[in-house]
Formats: sequence, C-alpha cells, structure tokens
Amino acid sequence: MGSLVDWVAPQTEDSAARRFLYSSVFWLLVGVLLGLTMVVKVLVPDLLGGVAWLSFGRIRQIHVDLGLFGFLSAALLAAACFVVPRLCRAPLAGERAANLAVWAWNAAAALAVITLAGGQTRGREWGEAVWSVDLLRLAAFVLLWFAVFRTIRRRRSPEMYVTLWYLAAALVWGPMVLFFGKGLWAPATPYAGVVEALAGWFTGHGMITLWAGALALGVAYYLVPRLSGNPLYSVTLAAVGFYGLALFGPFAGPLPSVGGPAPYWLQTVAVVAGVMLLIPGLSAATNLWRTLGGAWDRVRADVALAFAVVGILAYLLSVVQGALAALRVVHNFLAFTQWGAGQTMLTLGLAYGSFALAAVYHMLPAVTGRRLYSERLAWWHFWLSVLGWVVFLSLFWVAGLVEGVMWNAGATPFIASVKATVPLWAGRLVAGTAIVTAQVLFAYNVYSTAVAGTTVPAAEREREAVATA
Ligand code: HEM
Repeated sequence: MGSLVDWVAPQTEDSAARRFLYSSVFWLLVGVLLGLTMVVKVLVPDLLGGVAWLSFGRIRQIHVDLGLFGFLSAALLAAACFVVPRLCRAPLAGERAANLAVWAWNAAAALAVITLAGGQTRGREWGEAVWSVDLLRLAAFVLLWFAVFRTIRRRRSPEMYVTLWYLAAALVWGPMVLFFGKGLWAPATPYAGVVEALAGWFTGHGMITLWAGALALGVAYYLVPRLSGNPLYSVTLAAVGFYGLALFGPFAGPLPSVGGPAPYWLQTVAVVAGVMLLIPGLSAATNLWRTLGGAWDRVRADVALAFAVVGILAYLLSVVQGALAALRVVHNFLAFTQWGAGQTMLTLGLAYGSFALAAVYHMLPAVTGRRLYSERLAWWHFWLSVLGWVVFLSLFWVAGLVEGVMWNAGATPFIASVKATVPLWAGRLVAGTAIVTAQVLFAYNVYSTAVAGTTVPAAEREREAVATA
C-alpha cells in the first residue's frame, strides 16, 4: 500500500516537476500534430470527411485546449515546482500534493480530448472544455496552492524574488478567471446573451494574460538572470510591470467585443486597458533584455538561453501588436480575420512557448539526473522551430491583411477572400511541418535523455539541489 502511495504521489524532490515536464512534452506533440491536421484539412477538406470527431471544428477546440493547458501550462507548472523550492531555499512543502495535481491536470487534458472529440462543448472560443474538465483543473489548483504557498511561507531565503510574485499571482488569478469567467458554480454557463459573450472573452483574454502570461514571465524572470549570469536589471521596473498587469489585465477582457453589442463605455474601457498593457509589457521585455546584457557567448552555447531570448523578442512583438490591435480603427479593420489567430499563437506558441521550452531544457538534467542526450538535436529543434514559426505566423498576418482589405472594400464576395488565402495555407503546411518535426526531435531528445543520457556526477547535482541553490 505504502509503495502504491509512493508511486502515485512520491515525496522525492523534483518528482512533480519531472512529471509535469514529461506530460507537457506528450501533450505538445499531440497538440501540434492536431494543428498540422487542421492545416491539411483546410487544403483538402474532404480528407477524413464524414468522421465527426475528426472535423475541423472539433480538432480546433482540442488543439486550443491542449496548446494552452496540456502543453504550455504544464511546462510552466513544472518550472514553478522546480524554481519555487530553489528560490525559497526549502524543499517543496507538499511534493505529494503537487504530484496529485499532475494527475488531475493530465486527467483534465485527457477528458478534454475525449469530450471535445465526442462533441461535448461549452461552445465558447478558448473556453470550450466542459464542467468536469474545469473541476479537475480547479482541484489541481487547490493542490498546487497547498504546495507552493506553504513553501513560500516556510522559505529560508529572506527575499521574496520577482519570480515568486508572478508565480503566486498566477496561481490566484488563473483559477479566479476560470471560476468566474466560466461560472463554474453551475454545470452549464449561468450567463446569457451579451453577458455570456463578455464573460467568454474575459475568460479567454484572462487565461492568456493573467494566467499563462504571469506564469511565463515569472519563469522568464528566473531563467534570464540564472542563465546569463547577470543580476536582474531593475526590481522597480519589475514592480511596474507586475502591478500594471494586475491593474490593466482584467479590464482588457472585452476587447474582442469592440464593435459588437456590448455597452460602448465598456468597449472604451477595454480599448484603454488594451493600450495601457503596453506599460507592463514593455517594462518586462526591457527588464529581461537589459538583464541579458551582452551575454551572447552564453546564448550561443546554451539552447535554453537561446529559447529565452526568442521568448523575449516574441513577447515584445506580441505586446506591441496587441496594443495596436486594441485601437478601434485597427480592430475594425482586422476583426474576424486570420490576424487574430496569428496574434494568439505568437503570444502562446512562440513567446510563452519559448520560455516554457527554455525552462524544460534548463530543468532536464536536474530532474532526470542525466545530461541532455544530444546538444545537436536540441539546436535542430531550436532553429527548425524558430524559422518555422516566423514563416508560419507571417502567413497568418498576411492572410489577415488580405482578408481585411477585401472585406473592407465592401462588395467583394466572401468566397473570393477564402480563395485568395488558400496559397498561404499551402505555405503554412510547409512551415507547420517544420515546427512539428522540430517538436518530434525535441520529444525524442527528452525521451532519450530520460532513458539513455549519461548520469550527472553527484557533485554537480549537489550544486543544483534545492538546499544549496
Ligand atoms: C505550442 C504551440 C501552439 C499553441 C500554444 C497554439 C495555440 C493555438 C490557439 C490558442 C489557437 C486559437 C487562435 C484563436 O482563436 O485566435 C490556435 C489556432 C490554430 N493553430 Fe495553433 N498553436 C500552436 C501550434 C500550432 C502549430 C504547430 C500548428 C500547425 C502546424 C497550428 C495550427 C493552428 C491552426 C490551423 C489554427 C486555426 C486557425 C484558424 O482557425 O484560423 N498551431 N492555435
């Protein structure tokens, strides 16, 4: 019995981080393969035709859920379980609870796949998962509170590092957005009409900025100083960024409803908040960039730091794009075009995703006790991913502009804009294949590290261990 408990929820240091990490790699693979399937289906609509659970609409919902929760959140939660004890100089006070959270998180991801494929959906973009899935996620949050907040309270380090502010805030904001945004006190949404639409966008936008965004920035604030060897450039700037996110993040939620039936004053509040998000965004990007300093030798030698650099640049671009797209005139031009999906994937896939991958590479030797199986594969992963993403996202933006011009011209038939963007989807197939191939190499490298990497010598492991961090 004891050994079963130890297998399900071990007490061993870094076990929850390791399990979150492995599961994130698994769901990343499933998620991007589904993304590529969608691209193929747009080009060859009859492919897999007639199979309801393989229809574009269902695959899209699963892709979004796995991208945000299965991959991104799990990888960043692995990082949270890894860095919190190190910054607090105390073991995770609840390794068992965190391990149970890993189970709940994965059960939620699997249930989301099954229910969405079976046609059960809340019918809300980015909030499609049904009640039971969200309840599992809430249970995971409660377990993580138990582990993370107790560790912070018992910390032996006198400092409350910037990373800890962000991670602690994300663990409060994330479940709050989910609970109130989706109205989780009821099995079906308790909202109706315009309020339902507004609650939907509050959830979608909130999960990106207040949950994944805060988590990713928290992890970035740990990785960049640690890997570049430089101290944090400015705690004041970090504070400006943190409070700016807390202040403006919640109010930017209704942005996608600008031009819709929401009250005009509420739309204006969202526009102002969307533009004001430039303040926290630019302060975080500047702070991380200045912390990196001129550590280019390290960037060239360390794939984790290289991913973190890409994360900073992509984050900067997403912040600027987001603020511009919040302006009414730009919003009206781009609304409903493919620009939006490009913007979301820039933020989640390239910016936060790069911070998550940087964290995985950084943690891997410590949580497996083995050296990375192949540096060469890791660099292939890096270059194929980055080049693939640049082309892939550019094609979304070009498609968005083409649609914007054609739709705003007035009399153009809608089908003409669909035909005009088909060649861009063909380009996406090539770029998407590069990204997916890169993730397959990555998963193989992680797997090989776990089963065949050379063992990290005990003295080196000791330096990475919690108590001596
Ligand atoms: C970890 C990486 C990724 C994440 C986090 C991610 C996330 C997302 C999200 C949140 C959306 C919804 C966008 C919106 O509604 O505005 C989306 C849409 C989409 N994604 Fe991804 N994605 C990732 C990688 C990929 C890859 C590698 C491909 C293709 C190979 C892909 C193909 C698509 C397609 C085709 C859509 C639908 C676009 C549309 O309906 O216009 N994604 N993705």
